[in-house]
Amino acid sequence: MFSHEEIKKRVAEYAADYVEAGMTIGIGTGSTVYWLLQELGKRVQQGLHFKAVPTSRQTQTLATELGISLVDLNNVDQLVLTLDGADEVAPGLQLIKGGGGALLQEKIVAAASRQLIILADESKMVNVLGRFPLPVEVIPFGWKQVQKKIIQQLGCQLVELREKNGETFVSDHGHYILDCHFSQITDTPELNEAIHNIPGVVETGLFPNMADIAVVGYADGRITTTT
Ligand code: A5P
Repeated sequence: MFSHEEIKKRVAEYAADYVEAGMTIGIGTGSTVYWLLQELGKRVQQGLHFKAVPTSRQTQTLATELGISLVDLNNVDQLVLTLDGADEVAPGLQLIKGGGGALLQEKIVAAASRQLIILADESKMVNVLGRFPLPVEVIPFGWKQVQKKIIQQLGCQLVELREKNGETFVSDHGHYILDCHFSQITDTPELNEAIHNIPGVVETGLFPNMADIAVVGYADGRITTTT
């Protein structure tokens, strides 16, 4: 049986095969993407040439250290594909992302890609989204108004301002994150739109109908691809 970390590494190594010479791709954020970057870094050393748009400062820093060529999204018309992790993957490849706080840039990059390929271990696969609190990125000004509306208008049980090391977490783009405990999210596009309608919301961690493929790793060593 493979450990959680080994599964992530194996999924990343498998998914690295999607990256072909000459492509311009998006690269996500998180602990699974960490292994993807390591694998792609090795392939760059072996002579693979491709360019990437990073989805966070964390990915930008690591990719640079590993010798991966980065490009500004404004200098790209369309990305061939983006490889990224997820916090939950439900049937129809509906996603919750943003556990690492990079959801805004991840969503912009995913929307600029022809294909979004999600790398997941079996623990991320769920029947219904919502056990993982939904991250919502908000403008710091008046954030409590957004918190109140998500509870009162959208029926969320608990909305917590994200903290890190005892301080309010601030995203790469200077925003706060509200972690919203809905417990069950059955209509992803509808909830995404309803949250977007609240003034002060920048982006939600719901990725409705955006993913094309999920590469899923299991403790017994299997790796499956779901479309
Ligand atoms: C980052 O903000 C997230 O969207 C990540 O993609 C997600 O949290 C998955 O991360 P792990 O691979 O670390 O579980």
